[in-house]
Amino acid sequence: MIEVKNLVKCFGPKRAVDGVSFTVERGDVLGFLGPNGAGKSTSMRMITGYIPMTSGQVTVGGMDISKSPEEAKKLIGYLPENAPSYPGMSVRGFLKFCAEIRGITGSAATRAIDRVVSLCFLDKVIHQNVDTLSKGYRHRVCFAQSIIHDPDILIMDEPTDGLDPNQKQEVRKIIKQMGEKKAIIFSTHILEEVEAVCNRTIIIDQGKKVEDGTPDEIKRKALNAGSIIVGTTGVLASELSRKLEALNGVDKVEVLSDSQQKVSARVFPGAAVAFGSLAPEIYRLAARESWTLNELHTDSGRLDDVFRRITFSETGKAKN
Ligand SMILES: Nc1ncnc2c1ncn2[C@@H]1O[C@H](COP(=O)(O)OP(=O)(O)O)[C@@H](O)[C@H]1O
Ligand SMILES: [Mg+2]
Repeated sequence: MIEVKNLVKCFGPKRAVDGVSFTVERGDVLGFLGPNGAGKSTSMRMITGYIPMTSGQVTVGGMDISKSPEEAKKLIGYLPENAPSYPGMSVRGFLKFCAEIRGITGSAATRAIDRVVSLCFLDKVIHQNVDTLSKGYRHRVCFAQSIIHDPDILIMDEPTDGLDPNQKQEVRKIIKQMGEKKAIIFSTHILEEVEAVCNRTIIIDQGKKVEDGTPDEIKRKALNAGSIIVGTTGVLASELSRKLEALNGVDKVEVLSDSQQKVSARVFPGAAVAFGSLAPEIYRLAARESWTLNELHTDSGRLDDVFRRITFSETGKAKN
């Protein structure tokens, strides 16, 4: 549905987007993750045909956004970063206006408005002026206009920015639901959002794509991913470490805490050990030794560890 090849945008000497490529299929919700200034908004503006690209190619639904912008744009719903609104218009009036721009009139427009009003929970404010709405509602109105023509492709720039936790939750739910039938790209710098909503994630940093995979695949690149947390009662830390270290496949053991007879440790497997395969071995060791085991689980890794490790702030220093 969306194919991005070698996308580049230069602002003077600055390469804000520097050779980004990826594809998005129907049914994909792609999280576009990156620190501030990474080039997320600039990429989205080019993909939607809002600003011209310096070089590269974008096709949506098989159409080239530079060569057939009008046809391609019909397939796209775009929620820009700072969505403009039209003061002096009621919510219904604004949505009707947006529908008309998309060529939807008469009873089709009424149906389209009813659909987005219910999807975005706008019933209560339908007759209110857009400029008198709270930020959350105004945001939802902008969201509603971006899907008024029920597009196959949705591109949303930080769609939950500025919303309260309940509203964030609602918007995530809508995105996830719509993602089943559409191709969606949304940008965010909120990691939990990616885990909650996306089936794929791209991390961009300083204009370049640095990761591309499912959230689980990316999490496994965290330094702690695959290590095992072991918690015991009544075993000396030194004995626990020694016996765990002697186990086949264990690279090293780190004692995490040791108090009131409770010891917990992190066990790092050697490079050749399959993910998750060491935990049963540790379980058997504990049984042989008659240890009281309070905790035993494989750490699946954390997205924010990976994110911090590979993204750099504008000063070039690693974030922590
Ligand atoms: N119109 C512009 N003129 C000059 N520089 C720009 C312009 N738009 C964005 N930039 C720069 O491009 C980089 C990427 O910006 P942006 O795409 O907005 O990042 P993000 O959305 O990931 O926070 C930033 O360094 C920003 O200052
Ligand atoms: Mg941005």
